[in-house]
Amino acid sequence: MCGIVGYIGKEEASEVLLDGLRRLEYRGYDSAGMVVLNGNTLEIRRSVGKLANLEAHLKKHPLTGHAGVGHTRWATHGRPSEENAHPHRDATGRVVVVHNGIIENYMALKAGLQARGVKFESQTDTEVVAHLVGEAIARRRQAPVPLSPPLFVEAVREALSEIKGTYALGIVSADCPEVVIGARRECPLLVGVGENEFFLASDAPAILSRTRNAIFLQDGDLAVLSREKVLLFSIETGQPIERKTTYLPWDALQAEKAGYRHFMLKEIFEQPRSLEDTLRGRLDINELKVHLDTLKLSEEQIKKFRKMTIVACGTSYHAGLMARYLFESWVQAPCDVEIASEFRYRNPLIGPEDLLVAISQSGETADTIAAVRHAKGKGATTLAICNSVGSTLYRECHGKILTHCGPEIGVASTKAFTAQLAVLYVLALYGALLRGTLPRPDVENIMRNLLHLSRWVGEALKTDAGVAALAKKYFHSRNFLFLGRNLNYPIALEGALKLKEISYIHAEGYPSGELKHGPIALIDEDMPVIAIATQGRVYDKVMTNLEEVSARGGRVIALATVGDTRITALTSGHRLDAGHPRIHGPRGQCGAAPTVGLPHRRPPRL
Ligand code: BG6
Repeated sequence: MCGIVGYIGKEEASEVLLDGLRRLEYRGYDSAGMVVLNGNTLEIRRSVGKLANLEAHLKKHPLTGHAGVGHTRWATHGRPSEENAHPHRDATGRVVVVHNGIIENYMALKAGLQARGVKFESQTDTEVVAHLVGEAIARRRQAPVPLSPPLFVEAVREALSEIKGTYALGIVSADCPEVVIGARRECPLLVGVGENEFFLASDAPAILSRTRNAIFLQDGDLAVLSREKVLLFSIETGQPIERKTTYLPWDALQAEKAGYRHFMLKEIFEQPRSLEDTLRGRLDINELKVHLDTLKLSEEQIKKFRKMTIVACGTSYHAGLMARYLFESWVQAPCDVEIASEFRYRNPLIGPEDLLVAISQSGETADTIAAVRHAKGKGATTLAICNSVGSTLYRECHGKILTHCGPEIGVASTKAFTAQLAVLYVLALYGALLRGTLPRPDVENIMRNLLHLSRWVGEALKTDAGVAALAKKYFHSRNFLFLGRNLNYPIALEGALKLKEISYIHAEGYPSGELKHGPIALIDEDMPVIAIATQGRVYDKVMTNLEEVSARGGRVIALATVGDTRITALTSGHRLDAGHPRIHGPRGQCGAAPTVGLPHRRPPRL
């Protein structure tokens, strides 16, 4: 979750760095810092807590210079404190490093450095990198000759050859102030390309207000930024490499809060637009055709796949779980869904006859990337469903389908999830059309419903005041149970994940049919049950489960189809939010517009 910004150019570096770090604040951090080069001197400023503290520190002790690197840190090794905040320096104080990622062998490296007399100032894993680069420079440089950029690059490469783990690094030296070095292994890092100025950033929003041209570094890349140009090298071989410059389709405004209290709220309300953008041009209801131009897999290939495996993490994994119902039912194709971090450490049975689908908003989640590489190594064809053009997954997978959400700044995914579902629906339709496994009237019906989806989501969002009232009523509860069945089971899992991650309230997602096999023992009035009980094939079953909850004195909050009177009759029936026509029901029952994914008039064959 840490953030990196680097700069070299004509502007005051401290201002550019602070601005970039501010735009990465959404990722969360507990301390921040920066180093600025001024001729052959460098100075560091660091502060614990909010960026405002760093800003105040900089006001009192300003930094002057036109190159530097900045960082926002989430503590991993060592508590949040000024000495553990980045940047970190070597023993001479002239080599300075910021780092995202984890140096796995830092204990061994630290022990070696300490045995050679090096004193450590922090408890971080990062500090070893600064010392190793410092030592490598000392070995190569015959004092007092100035440190040339090639020598600096060689020293960084030598240091990195000792490191095991993951990193995005920004490195500067007071003895070579004409360059800023970036290096990447399994952590995102990009170079922003301006006019006589270049930027380093761990995430695009940091630079969007300054340039829309970026070079996405790949694993094993080292970038040398100067005022005039950027040069790229392989860390392993030292050979120059070429990477293309990508135009970022997002503007800086999309990465702002636009009047919302926070990014997540803004992104929740962006769903109608992001669904519309994601579905645009992909469904032809007149010809009953699906257009997926970037899929890059031939119809023959798709027809022949033996099995499909979906890998993803977090919310993206829940989108995959939901897609399994569609692929099995509509395409009649076997579909496994795996948590990427488990898949990569098993010995999964996957081969050249199989398709691996990787779902990821960022396209940079390390476990998902590793799973793709593993599958590719076994000869499988890979397909990325992601939101970031130019990301690692986008580049490395054979085929790709983009969700068109714009930047998702909120770390807990929202609009990307529904856009992923939309893409998965489209992909399942595409497969069903190719294989001829869905009757044409069903295809037409599903397409029509997908085309209404954005409007329905807009309608559902009008329940926000009632939802806020529910939250006010229940936020003291320490535990929640989310129930759903069939398609709504993954939605229950996702609801529980969101509550945990955002409210720090314990929540579990359960298939409602499992209630009787254990969790029912927990039901009482202190454990609100959120039921996703929209009308469909398993509605009656879910109702039976909710009656079990009710019989135990449990409090049900139901997400139900508009007009469903049976669910409101489940309990006593007073309105929770009299001001809002869609929120009704006793003890918090909530009716909403037809749920995302469930065709409105005719239920899908699931
Ligand atoms: C987690 C986020 O860190 O990463 C989740 O909290 C997200 O919301 C998950 O779903 C996976 O990210 P991505 O970018 O691979 O979809």
